[in-house]
Amino acid sequence: MKKIIGLAGSMKKHHSSSEYLLSVALEAAAEQGVQTELLRLNDYNILPCDGCGNCMNGKHCHLLKDPEDQLTELYDKLKEADGFVFASPVYALSLPAVWKNWIDRCEPCSDEDLDFEYYNYDRVAGVKGKAFTGKVAGQIVVAAGPGHEWALASLMPCFTAIKLSMIASAGISLIEYDGQPGIRKRSWSKPIEEAEEAKMMARAVGMRVASSLGFSYFDLPGQSGAGQGQGSGGQDPMEQDPMEQSREHGMQADPWSAFTVQNVKDEEIALGELAAERPRIFVIGDQQASVRCGPLLEQLEQQFGGKAACALIARVGQLPHFITHEFVKEKTGQTVPGFELYYDWEDKLASRCSLAPGQPAILVGRSREEWRLFAVDEAEGREIGRVVDYLDEVVV
Ligand SMILES: Cc1cc2nc3c(=O)[nH]c(=O)nc-3n(C[C@H](O)[C@H](O)[C@H](O)COP(=O)(O)O)c2cc1C
Repeated sequence: MKKIIGLAGSMKKHHSSSEYLLSVALEAAAEQGVQTELLRLNDYNILPCDGCGNCMNGKHCHLLKDPEDQLTELYDKLKEADGFVFASPVYALSLPAVWKNWIDRCEPCSDEDLDFEYYNYDRVAGVKGKAFTGKVAGQIVVAAGPGHEWALASLMPCFTAIKLSMIASAGISLIEYDGQPGIRKRSWSKPIEEAEEAKMMARAVGMRVASSLGFSYFDLPGQSGAGQGQGSGGQDPMEQDPMEQSREHGMQADPWSAFTVQNVKDEEIALGELAAERPRIFVIGDQQASVRCGPLLEQLEQQFGGKAACALIARVGQLPHFITHEFVKEKTGQTVPGFELYYDWEDKLASRCSLAPGQPAILVGRSREEWRLFAVDEAEGREIGRVVDYLDEVVV
């Protein structure tokens, strides 16, 4: 069952308006058959980042080892979620400091985040962490008066940087429903449970997040596949024969021969030429998929090794100027020792194949005319099954 975690960011222990509305949002999500859980950001002691820079250099955040620090505890919970609803009050026309404190610490969340990915631009641009990337979120912000509009926008660049799709935002001024004792004793004060418009907005956010689980607006098709992407109503480009795609796009037959990858000896190699020598099985994966690529390769090697050559094509996106190809090669080589390794610099092949970030794929071919591409998605077992069926047919 899919899960949504609601993260409440009020500093109040009781009578929090934003937390109440969060519970309303989660209730609406639960009605759609989603499991929900509400966490309070303030229940976790998250030590402030002291700017040591370890995480920027591929080292562990020293604060994670501090027994007082509970970032890992929160992060491990958030990893369980397929989507999030964030709820917060407005403080000084923005969000309370706990949010910023948490966001500042999201960079070195876990060992998993510290693999060879840290050179990636995405990882230096803002908030990081695999707990969020590719997932959806909604946000609810409650003010007494002005500021919900700025507060809603304040974390957006960070969420965008980690490719968390913010798909619903609700901001509202609710002074007469405020939980402060000073307001609750006024004659015009009302209980938050009666804030019908706010509850409708909160429900809408919860429902929208629930109905969008699995969606990501960052999974756009590559340039050459524009208009063919998931959600366009057309055939999934991953399901389509690359030869068929090339015909649709008016390209020459044998599109694969146009793509070169680079081996560890710095040689540029045309994919078509590679397959002409021997049947080939390539696992294509980026840094996010790297954890799954090794086991996949091993599985394919066990089944087809000897009959076909199994290798990894590591997708490498745009690199910041201070990261060299040599550095990437050294780090990547450690992830799949013993396997042939090729590099798809600047993601050219992957974007040609419309591979979403973090989505491993398997490219198989006995000859340059016969390349077939299989996406390895959530239904991993089924997809691998299809690859194996195909290989049984063509390789044996
Ligand atoms: C330190 C502080 C700063 C605040 N700043 C603003 C503000 O800039 N604009 C506003 O409309 N409300 C402001 N408020 C009011 C809260 O946003 C409002 O009480 C909100 O409903 C509290 O949500 P909660 O009950 O979930 O904590 C502020 C409250 C506090 C305690």
